[in-house]
Amino acid sequence: MQNDIGRVLLSEAEIAAKVKELGERLTEEYRGKELLVVGILKGSNVFMSDLIRQITIPLKIDFMMVSSYGNATESTGVVKIIKDIEQSISDKHLLIVEDIIDSGLTLKYLKEMLETRKPASIKLCTLLDKPARRQENVDVDYVGFEMPDEFIVGYGIDYAEHYRNLPYIGILKPEVYTK
Ligand code: IMP
Ligand code: MG
Repeated sequence: MQNDIGRVLLSEAEIAAKVKELGERLTEEYRGKELLVVGILKGSNVFMSDLIRQITIPLKIDFMMVSSYGNATESTGVVKIIKDIEQSISDKHLLIVEDIIDSGLTLKYLKEMLETRKPASIKLCTLLDKPARRQENVDVDYVGFEMPDEFIVGYGIDYAEHYRNLPYIGILKPEVYTK
């Protein structure tokens, strides 16, 4: 698996430092509020697990799973909900946690859909952002790192369901795609 990585973009230590910083900011933002952290499966799993342990106020967690129809490396904006949040979100403060925002199509759709359920607030937190790829304008409240327009794997993020368990973030060697 390690041999398929062409270049490491973010080391384990760099990621851990950023997650700690985000956790500290979120702890202050949501102090005294009823916080529900909603992870978008599967990519946000690793980031969210680390992030919630850096937030030191009470919170609840839930998950959504969505699929955006498309090929392996591009999304289409047509979003299908595979798994929904299991609890009422009305009057809760929602923090949506994503692994990476690319076109923005998935999050724009999700945010609009969740707003109809009348939560107290909705904010978005993503570990990685690729602003150069944005097709839809979404307000992202918390961003870990801005990334170049390259296909990224590791720390929960996959290529064809592989590489999620890499502890760091990198890009694949070009020959991996043509295997
Ligand atoms: P968007 O709707 O185009 O913003 O797509 C966001 C989703 O696409 C992310 O949650 C990822 O699952 C996937 N994605 C976007 N860019 C990458 C990448 O560089 N590597 C792996 N998955 C990606
Ligand atoms: Mg994903």
